[in-house]
Amino acid sequence: MIILGIETSCDETAAAVLKVERGKFNLLSNIISSQVKTHAKYGGIVPEVAARMQMKMIMPILNQALKLASSKSQNTISKNSIDYIAVTQGPGLITSLMVGVETAKTLSYILNKPLIPVNHLAAHLLVNCINNKIKFPAVGLIVSGGHTILVLITSSKNGLKYKIIGETQDDAVGEAFDKVAKILNLGYPGGPIISKLAINGDKNKFNLPRPMIQQQNFNFSFSGLKTAVLYLTQKYKNIKTKKHSKSDYELRNLCASFQQACIDVLISKTLRAIKEFKPKSFLLGGGVAANPELRQQLQKKINIKFPKVKIFMPELKFTGDNAVMVAVAGYFKINNNKKINTKKFKADPNINNSLS
Ligand code: KG4
Ligand code: ZN
Repeated sequence: MIILGIETSCDETAAAVLKVERGKFNLLSNIISSQVKTHAKYGGIVPEVAARMQMKMIMPILNQALKLASSKSQNTISKNSIDYIAVTQGPGLITSLMVGVETAKTLSYILNKPLIPVNHLAAHLLVNCINNKIKFPAVGLIVSGGHTILVLITSSKNGLKYKIIGETQDDAVGEAFDKVAKILNLGYPGGPIISKLAINGDKNKFNLPRPMIQQQNFNFSFSGLKTAVLYLTQKYKNIKTKKHSKSDYELRNLCASFQQACIDVLISKTLRAIKEFKPKSFLLGGGVAANPELRQQLQKKINIKFPKVKIFMPELKFTGDNAVMVAVAGYFKINNNKKINTKKFKADPNINNSLS
């Protein structure tokens, strides 16, 4: 079976071709066009610009994905060889989502192939299945630019079921990294820049808050932490530098301290969730899953406290937005796929309250 995955939820235009034989995944192509350099000039994503670039890139990216898949499988893979078309329905920016959804609808109509709507957040977690046989129930932690969610995933005859057990009450963790980087004049996106600077910093140098860490629930809050960084930069004016010169050392300390505050809360709530729901597996997903300290510390803490829980973290190439995750998530919905009325099918920017 061949699944075409399409992802256009935000500022990446992506297509992937995935072959599945007896439950085994064989990735034939994975093409991504990122707009990050364009948005970096504005210090964040400009939705209107994102949608225009999605429109421009979607057909070239689809063609490249099919071409690469043909050469990799030494077989001509044309649009007609595709058995299913999986597409991100939401959440995301409505005008970006619409580009992928309308393209997928058109392909589905012309080729008479079924459409599978995929939730972007579930896909960030399910990409872990590409090289692994995962046992459920699983606790998943989604850490991206728009979301911070703890979810319980169970498996039944009708497919995977998701229950959101906790989420951020304000900013997402990736958003906090981006906003702190903006405060510090470091550029966009903030996550990779801050995590690099943090490598040589002292994470204990600045005493930053760990919001909601004591609360007996699975929710998060990151906006107060970002404000605490803002106050610190006002106190130590030399940290806020454009050229990271003399104050480099303090800047690194601040990045390391901020990063550690985020990690402490994420780990504490994850351990609480594992204790409560006793899953067989833990899955990490989303752009912030690229953070090396988060990966390492999560792995260590879960291993010590819950050695029987199997830990799955995506390869770095699958942490950010991509279409492989959409194709994999699509595969898990094939058996329970309710017949989609292609004409009525729409992008939905707010579907995060149900990951199914
Ligand atoms: O999942 P993603 O690619 O897009 C969304 O669906 O939001 O996540 C993007 C987010 C950005 O906020 C970016 O700063 C963050 O992931 N990010 C990181 C790292 N690499 C990317 N955050 C922390 N450390 C990183 N190494
Ligand atoms: Zn994402």
